[in-house]
Amino acid sequence: FINDPQNKILSGKRIVVTAGGTREAIDPVRFIGNKSSGKMGFAIAEVASQLGAKVTLITGPTKLKITNESKIKRIDIESVADLQEALDQNISGADVLIMAAAVSDYRVAQISDHKMKKDDFNGKLSLELVENPDVLASLKRPKSLKYVAGFAAETNDLLVNASRKIIKKNLNMIIANDVGNPQIGFNSNENEVTIIRPNQANIVISKNEKKVVAEKILKLVAEEID
Ligand code: CTP
Ligand code: CA
Repeated sequence: FINDPQNKILSGKRIVVTAGGTREAIDPVRFIGNKSSGKMGFAIAEVASQLGAKVTLITGPTKLKITNESKIKRIDIESVADLQEALDQNISGADVLIMAAAVSDYRVAQISDHKMKKDDFNGKLSLELVENPDVLASLKRPKSLKYVAGFAAETNDLLVNASRKIIKKNLNMIIANDVGNPQIGFNSNENEVTIIRPNQANIVISKNEKKVVAEKILKLVAEEID
């Protein structure tokens, strides 16, 4: 139904989407990263745009390109600090935030300003890491922001772990994702998720293309911000 103009259910809405994984530098040539491909966040941004929303996409490093580029504002970031800054600068006036980025929980305490040499460590190297801010939980929300959704990628106790994050981060929705299953999530084009919302029954979106999953998520969001 996406291309049916009757179904521009998000027209007039401003949506900020974060996607992909962050990178935390170790030295000028190395980083700590994660397996996020960015595909789920890109699918949400593209489908939201097709549904009429004005979309800002903040993304970690990825090979992905936006297909309807002209309409989506894309901001490329690397570190969690970059992500936080980009979000702070672009959240004003937004109606919805969908936080699909895989945010590094820790960063290197002291980034080396030169390439580290293997022989300098006598065969054993420890990196000291310090905790990053929780971008989603600590975001200063503008008045316009009516709806905030997060993602929870879990390998175990999916629903219990994800439900806790709704409360801890004060969310309207969490999209819970079983990343222990190699058929879905990460670099896959398909995903299967459970939508958890406070005081509403959970909804399972069965294994489907990420675009289809994105469309189902956005329909639920649209219903709640009308
Ligand atoms: N998130 C964030 N800032 C962080 C960590 C996570 O904004 N420093 C966001 C993610 O983008 C996601 C949600 O919080 O939308 C849940 O992320 P997740 O990694 O599952 O939760 P954590 O609180 O980091 O808990 P843990 O990794 O220990 O399971
Ligand atoms: Ca985390």
